[in-house]
Amino acid sequence: MALDVVLSRVNKLFGSNHVVKDVDLKFPALNFVTLLGPSGCGKTTLLRMIAGLETVSHGDIYFGERRINLVRPGQRDVAMVFQNYALYPNMNVFRNIAYSLRVRGTPREEMEKKVREVAEILEISHLLDRKPRHLSGGQRQRVALGRAMVRNPAVFLMDEPLSNLDAKLRVNMRSELKLFHQRLQTTTVYVTHDQLEAMTMSDLIAVMHDGKVQQFGTPAQIYNEPCNLFVAGFIGSPPMNFLPASLDRDSGGRLRVGGAMLDVPGETFPGLGDCPADAKLVLGIRPQDVELAAEALPGSLAGEVVLVELLGSEKLVDIRLDGGQRLVVQVRADRDIAVGENVRAVISPNAMQLFDEASGESLRRR
Ligand SMILES: Nc1ncnc2c1ncn2[C@@H]1O[C@H](COP(=O)(O)OP(=O)(O)OP(=O)(O)O)[C@@H](O)[C@H]1O
Ligand SMILES: [Mg+2]
Repeated sequence: MALDVVLSRVNKLFGSNHVVKDVDLKFPALNFVTLLGPSGCGKTTLLRMIAGLETVSHGDIYFGERRINLVRPGQRDVAMVFQNYALYPNMNVFRNIAYSLRVRGTPREEMEKKVREVAEILEISHLLDRKPRHLSGGQRQRVALGRAMVRNPAVFLMDEPLSNLDAKLRVNMRSELKLFHQRLQTTTVYVTHDQLEAMTMSDLIAVMHDGKVQQFGTPAQIYNEPCNLFVAGFIGSPPMNFLPASLDRDSGGRLRVGGAMLDVPGETFPGLGDCPADAKLVLGIRPQDVELAAEALPGSLAGEVVLVELLGSEKLVDIRLDGGQRLVVQVRADRDIAVGENVRAVISPNAMQLFDEASGESLRRR
């Protein structure tokens, strides 16, 4: 049976090193939830506490109504795929995957069926007779996944399970894991530092930085309404542009960015009226949300193209604005544009993000 996983003010200290700080999260049953953040932010530590492989320094973890802080890992009904997986070197792939089923005395026929099914999904059916030392890193990683997938746990934990796969296989496995999750009917907690993986697979994402949860929400919320500069810069590719900005009270509260004055949708940023007149702000805008115009429209930013990169169906245009700041703009690949050209960048007001520079917090209505 799938269960909610609830983390209540969970902390972890290794000696005096405080690596997980007051994490308060509720993962609803059956959801695919991702812990996303840069290396060292505490993702694996948090996952290991959920699995019971690491003690909780302060706080509580619940599976459904049951507090599980002191429940032994084997009694928690979790399956975990480790970041540093280890396979049994003397067993072939079939026996590695079948191990947990064999231990529980699963009938041979059922075991065969489950292993073959999982091997099919993971594209390793042809490797069932091989020993781990005769496999590539990516193949071994899929065997490690298979070992967890044959089980039917209440909570499925995965720590960067696709990190060793090549780009194409990773995209395949992303969809396969998501389909598998839907079929398995279990609560999944998935760890990655890859924002695209998190965006495409998750029902909910918890963005972590320095042991703290920065934001918890759906992929669309995290992408469209990042709560601070860290989340805004971490999510999205190419990354969001950040431009220094200030409020111009004389012009009725418009935004001064470089030499230009921009209208701000007041209903989106109700806190703007309360900002001190000299507040330092940061305007955030994604490369996809800027248009390039030939003529000098009001509220457009003037600059010169310094670099053009073709990505296939799109081009990235790197612009040096007249004030010296850089702005990356994404346009269609068939758009004619050359280095040295003078352009005007038009920022879509609805896609604007505004942050307080000092605190990093978004000024958006929450
Ligand atoms: N057993 C340990 N003893 C002391 N410090 C540890 C221990 N395990 C982890 N840490 C520290 O805790 C912090 C968080 O580590 P963790 O492995 O949770 O990060 P992570 O987000 O999983 O990073 P990565 O993406 O690199 O796997 C790091 O600073 C790490 O050095
Ligand atoms: Mg880790």
